[in-house]
Amino acid sequence: MSITDQIQKIRSEFRSDLENISSENGVVDQIRIKYLGRKGLIASLFVQMGKVDADERPQMGKVLNELKSEITIEIDSLFIADSIEVGMDDQAVDLTLPGDPVSVGSIHPLTLVLEEIKSIFLKIGFSLAYGPEIDMEFYNFEALNMPKHHPARDMQDTFYISDEVLLRTHTSNTQIHFMENHEPPVRIIVPGRVYRNEDISVRSYCLFHQIEGLFVDMGVTFADLKGTLNYFARELFGKDVITRFRPSYFPFTEPSAEMDVSCIFCQGKGCSICKKTGWLEILGCGMVDPEVYKSVKYDPNKWTGYAFGMGIERIAMLKYGVEDIRLFYNGDLRFLRQF
Ligand code: DAH
Repeated sequence: MSITDQIQKIRSEFRSDLENISSENGVVDQIRIKYLGRKGLIASLFVQMGKVDADERPQMGKVLNELKSEITIEIDSLFIADSIEVGMDDQAVDLTLPGDPVSVGSIHPLTLVLEEIKSIFLKIGFSLAYGPEIDMEFYNFEALNMPKHHPARDMQDTFYISDEVLLRTHTSNTQIHFMENHEPPVRIIVPGRVYRNEDISVRSYCLFHQIEGLFVDMGVTFADLKGTLNYFARELFGKDVITRFRPSYFPFTEPSAEMDVSCIFCQGKGCSICKKTGWLEILGCGMVDPEVYKSVKYDPNKWTGYAFGMGIERIAMLKYGVEDIRLFYNGDLRFLRQF
């Protein structure tokens, strides 16, 4: 076979080797040795150059060199790819592998609801205020028109730390702290944790969260209270929600009311969640009792206002259809990942 034929044959053999190349480590190296090695096919062709006629030799040499550089370039490029893989194996760093999955946390449902409620009130001019969770009886009870032995104290089973120090049973304590330190007008919401010495069950827990509202100014009426809370209910539960105010009793408001919203599960028709009433109780509210103004040295003849308080867990349970309040606290990821 002439050298020219051999060059052609080697070129097509190399092409078919390339096509059949597998990704196994070392295969590229075998091909390199086969063609470019010291005893490889290209070298053997160069050996045969001696037999070529002197006048053909330059041309033949040129063609052979072209083949050599063609094969070298191909193999080098394969080699780079191959060595990246080999390198990765060796060093256990494979930049093409997906990274370790990073599990992204989710926002706790109570935080979601709290943020939503906050934004609803902040939009209409309320500011945030915070108060102590460990407090004096005075702020939690007396100043809110609940003197010692007042029957209303029994509504809230209290954790006492000492005779006069307790874990607050409601965020209403912050009404007093805030008014003690600020002159009216006041327009605040107070989110926070509260504690009650209750048996733990599907419906109640020893701690939960409330959001308190307090608005004090001149000439504030019950209509202002209703307007604000109606707006709030529609923002939170949708514009079709209907509210109703039922007379109630709280020592620190007079008159007092509880606000219900039309059941968001049955649109007021009556279902198991609203106990067939068509209504869900959402919050307590009322006009600030003049006795409360006296405790904070506001002039009850000058200042008027309303207050309200609601449980965040209760609203979160309604909004997300959660049936067991304990799910909010036990850190079960199967629950938390749903939010
Ligand atoms: N503090 C009350 C409770 O925990 C809720 C409440 C009712 C707060 C009426 C208020 C209010 O500010 O006006 O049950």
